[in-house]
Amino acid sequence: MHILITGGAGFIGSNLVKYHLNQGHKVHVVDDLSTGRKENIQPFLPNPDFHFDEGDVLTWSGLERAVSGADVIYHLAAVVGVFKVLKEPIEVLAINIAGCERLLRAARNSHWNPRIIVASSSEVYGNRPVVDGEHMPLHEELELLITPGINTRWNYSISKLANEAFAISYAKEHDMHVTAVRFFNVCGPGQRGRYGMVVPRFVNQAVNNEPLTVFGNGSQTRSFMDVRDAVKALFALANTEKSAGEIVNVGSDSEISILELAKLVRKLANSDSAIEHLTYEEVYGEGFDEIGYRRPALQKLQTMTGFKSQYALVDTINHLIDLSAPAITSDIDGDVSLVCSRA
Ligand SMILES: NC(=O)c1ccc[n+]([C@@H]2O[C@H](COP(=O)([O-])OP(=O)(O)OC[C@H]3O[C@@H](n4cnc5c(N)ncnc54)[C@H](O)[C@@H]3O)[C@@H](O)[C@H]2O)c1
Repeated sequence: MHILITGGAGFIGSNLVKYHLNQGHKVHVVDDLSTGRKENIQPFLPNPDFHFDEGDVLTWSGLERAVSGADVIYHLAAVVGVFKVLKEPIEVLAINIAGCERLLRAARNSHWNPRIIVASSSEVYGNRPVVDGEHMPLHEELELLITPGINTRWNYSISKLANEAFAISYAKEHDMHVTAVRFFNVCGPGQRGRYGMVVPRFVNQAVNNEPLTVFGNGSQTRSFMDVRDAVKALFALANTEKSAGEIVNVGSDSEISILELAKLVRKLANSDSAIEHLTYEEVYGEGFDEIGYRRPALQKLQTMTGFKSQYALVDTINHLIDLSAPAITSDIDGDVSLVCSRA
């Protein structure tokens, strides 16, 4: 089986490479290394079943050829991370939307009909109100609450929503097997703290006995999925007829507040770190809209694929602590552009 991964030198992408090479598949990656890293794919470079092209999905001349040889395509290349999104609001829209359309058009023109997974995000659900203290699970048919305007934080959600619309439209109009996947806070090895990912940041701070910096009061919740589970869920979706033309949540439905997460990481790392709070204004400047909670409904994923997560959050954190010292610390560089959560 031939696999093409755009953004394959990134966090989820490089874990997908590992997964598919272990299955005996041939894997082709294109990545411009903007947030991805060569180190993520370095171990695979000597493998004859692995091929890497450094290129931008918007302009890469090998795209048409690559899609026509692929059985499964994962389109992950995108501008990501809350801090980067706030800093580069135009690129977020331009790259994320045009990159996805170019990929789908190339696949359509190849007349080959690969299975295509397009990465979307739980960010499209927007900031849902908590009703009577209840955090209702977010299911795929919910209306979306995005607030475009002065706050460019929502540009990422808008770009991902456009990706979903392209995915569904190509599937419908050209009878293609395209699935849009809404990831909910995937975490694990290869993820960088500097673009706004809370788990690697807390682990890094805890193992270095630095203060764990919680933004806001820490009551905001997230549901974290281990990337080792995420890659299995993705391939399961690519493997079923039922996912064609569908939007599917991929995540864990176990929820934790960011303050509790900080305490858990500190305990598992056996660390003496203090926990400090920063206001959103201190971190992002004025007018940042934090998301109160995030918990996916997973019935659709489970019905389509029978998928069940294997790893709990504790397993993921312990795994990162074991791997931690040089790998994670060198990522962080004391970068204060780190946010408490992202999707
Ligand atoms: N990790 C999560 O929890 C999460 C949550 C929601 C959505 N997602 C989506 O999943 C995908 C993968 O995210 P990730 O967490 O692995 O982030 P990542 O930054 O590690 O991966 C994105 C990759 O895309 C590459 N890239 C960016 N622009 C490119 C371009 N124009 N051409 C070629 N390559 C380009 C980057 O260099 C990087 O390797 C993204 O589309 C992201 O929006 C991830």
